[in-house]
Amino acid sequence: MKLYKIAVIPGDGTGPEVIQEGIKVLNAAAQKYNVKLEFVKFDFGGERYLKTGETLPDSAIEDLKKFDAIYLGAIGHPDVKPGILEVGILLKLRFAFDQYINLRPVKLYRVEDCPIKDKTPQDVDFVVIRENTGGVYTGIGGVMQKGTKNEVATQLMIYSYHQVERCIRFAYEYTRKRNKKKQLTLVHKTNVLTYCGDLWWRVFQEVGKEYPDIKQDYNHVDACCMWFVKSPEYYDVVVTENMFGDIITDLAAIIQGGLGIAAGGNINPEGISMFEPMGGSAPKYTGKNVINPLAAIYAGSMMMDFLGEKKIAEAIEHAIEKALLSGKIKSLSAGKMGLTTTEVGDLVASLV
Ligand code: IPM
Ligand code: MN
Repeated sequence: MKLYKIAVIPGDGTGPEVIQEGIKVLNAAAQKYNVKLEFVKFDFGGERYLKTGETLPDSAIEDLKKFDAIYLGAIGHPDVKPGILEVGILLKLRFAFDQYINLRPVKLYRVEDCPIKDKTPQDVDFVVIRENTGGVYTGIGGVMQKGTKNEVATQLMIYSYHQVERCIRFAYEYTRKRNKKKQLTLVHKTNVLTYCGDLWWRVFQEVGKEYPDIKQDYNHVDACCMWFVKSPEYYDVVVTENMFGDIITDLAAIIQGGLGIAAGGNINPEGISMFEPMGGSAPKYTGKNVINPLAAIYAGSMMMDFLGEKKIAEAIEHAIEKALLSGKIKSLSAGKMGLTTTEVGDLVASLV
């Protein structure tokens, strides 16, 4: 029997609650398809930081290398200053494992979950490929005369040819394999970012020569925000740099029904990838059994897909769809589902 070792970082807030349901569904699917999953939990997050001052020690990176994938709940704690846990844990993991792709499918399952009028599941089905380790996230910059009126701060958008090329190549390959509209939209801001934007634009065209079957398309990022809302049906696959990708994927998430359903994969195609629900730690819902676990469950499906277990991935996705279409889940929003977190997990697990 095939065995996969999964490192689990439930993290902060509602992270542990949603991850528990994700594991429940993964186990149900694995059992059905004769695969064994071994989950090992790690306690990195806000609580541990407050107790020990430690975010993610280097030894943890070594430990995590022994796993096939990482399954992450949420990082962020109300008593910890913004940035410490995000940079010290989430971004550190993305960098340490060179997870240079952030894959975010945007799919609507039910008309009533879409905030845009007259849009149906046929209209909302695209994927955003966000570059995940470069740009302003590189963390290069500085500050002088901090705290004075003369303070100057910089944070640089940095991209190497190599970083852009591997991301764009992944996007072309993905668009080809997805085999839908075969259209790849580059999103940037070439009219202002005349160095970084130009690099992305040239590489997009150059690599595109190897993919004559893929239609090339371009949006400025501001226009893209408008078009996502006006005509989501236009999109197939979108590729963009890190910060723009961060912003447009929150917009995209709400089009598909919000953070209760939106999931992402931090992918290193040759290495160890990490899968997570996009919603944060949601402190105000913590411990109440009201948070929506579907995003975490969907992240589990993406993880199986990435590990090559397509049947399991599809079974989980179909179970999510069936659960939604059953009418038993009233809304995707926390506290309004009409079911508890555990009940939603049980329902999906029963449908795989
Ligand atoms: C995301 C999050 C992170 C990001 C934060 C928590 C650092 O917003 O995964 O989209 O900006 O990448
Ligand atoms: Mn984000």
